[in-house]
Amino acid sequence: MRVPLLVSLRTGPAGTFEARLPRIVSFGYGCRGEIPALAAEYGPKVCFVVGKRSLQASGALNELLEAAREAGLDPVIFDKVEAEPLVGTVDVVRETLLDEDCDVVIAVGGGSVLDVGKAAAALVDSELPTAEHLAGAELPEDGLPVIAAPTTSGTGAEVTPNAVLRDPNTGAKASLRGPSLLPAAAIVDPQLTMGAPPEVTAHSGLDALTQALEAYTSLGASPFSDALAFPAVVRIGVAIRTVYVDPKSWPGRESMALGSLFAGIALASARLGLVHGLAHPIGVEYRLPHGLACALLLPHVMEFNLPACGEKYAVCARALGVGETGEDLLGWVRQLLPQLGVETTLTDRGLREMDFPKLVPAAAASGSTKHNPREAGEEDITALLRHIIDPDSPLPELEEHPA
Ligand SMILES: [Fe+2]
Repeated sequence: MRVPLLVSLRTGPAGTFEARLPRIVSFGYGCRGEIPALAAEYGPKVCFVVGKRSLQASGALNELLEAAREAGLDPVIFDKVEAEPLVGTVDVVRETLLDEDCDVVIAVGGGSVLDVGKAAAALVDSELPTAEHLAGAELPEDGLPVIAAPTTSGTGAEVTPNAVLRDPNTGAKASLRGPSLLPAAAIVDPQLTMGAPPEVTAHSGLDALTQALEAYTSLGASPFSDALAFPAVVRIGVAIRTVYVDPKSWPGRESMALGSLFAGIALASARLGLVHGLAHPIGVEYRLPHGLACALLLPHVMEFNLPACGEKYAVCARALGVGETGEDLLGWVRQLLPQLGVETTLTDRGLREMDFPKLVPAAAASGSTKHNPREAGEEDITALLRHIIDPDSPLPELEEHPA
């Protein structure tokens, strides 16, 4: 069946939607040069939150520090953010912000770095440890402003009002979510992503692709989010192999950065779906980086979702030139993974039925799962996970189209 491209434009009722954006979203090669002047608007004492290595190795951190000092700023640096960050790391940054009386946080790094910067800035005035907020304690209304500059094209954390953290004491991996977590400025300079190694490029890019597809097909999708999520799928889909094989491709890095930015804005408004609902518990249980967990789940969840959102998948397949149907898009995703070095499977990584009691309730309760285009209760998720382990175990039939 040939699906008209207009499906993507939602020519029917617009429904209701809300969009909250950073005060400034700046994009393009060289736009990181705007950071010192932006920071100076908030005050001279700035805290750079960065990762452990790559920004230092590329010389970009020195360049940023020099520019900050030239602009009259007084920087302190926190450079101990780990992958899949812990609540305790946020507590340490909060202490630094208070001890140094900082005016603004400048977070430059991958999704983990941006999330730590955002969480620490939002909680700077809280009396409670970060773990209690992750467990549900209310967030303060205001914190410090954050200037967020991503060095990977992945999470879109520079434009989202949430931060994903882990609590080693409870084993929980969850999101802090609220308006105070939204950065004041998003500075998306594709040049900052040039140094990402191929594996990081592949995993973060597959996270961005998943986010674009999930925002596009989410129950919370609107004309606003579609206008960003659909081109995000196309930009990322066209460029992801290019940047994997040619990390210095300027047009490829630009397309990925723009796609992940668009996907981030779209998901902040539309929310996500079952891949992200499952990626947190599965990532924690089998120690998978977030992007890899998403990549391994994506084709299985797409197969489950096909009866509910096949038309939108078909629109993406046509736009990418990979076929005419939703099944064609699924086939393209399946063959894309090994081309990006993703040869492993969830079963290889340990997925087994005895872990379902830990995985299924957490996935079913997730806000992302509640926005999945096909309703996914505990029985459905159990059947899906069984199907991943044993393809002969059937997926549940779709009883009713959710319209
Ligand atoms: Fe993600």
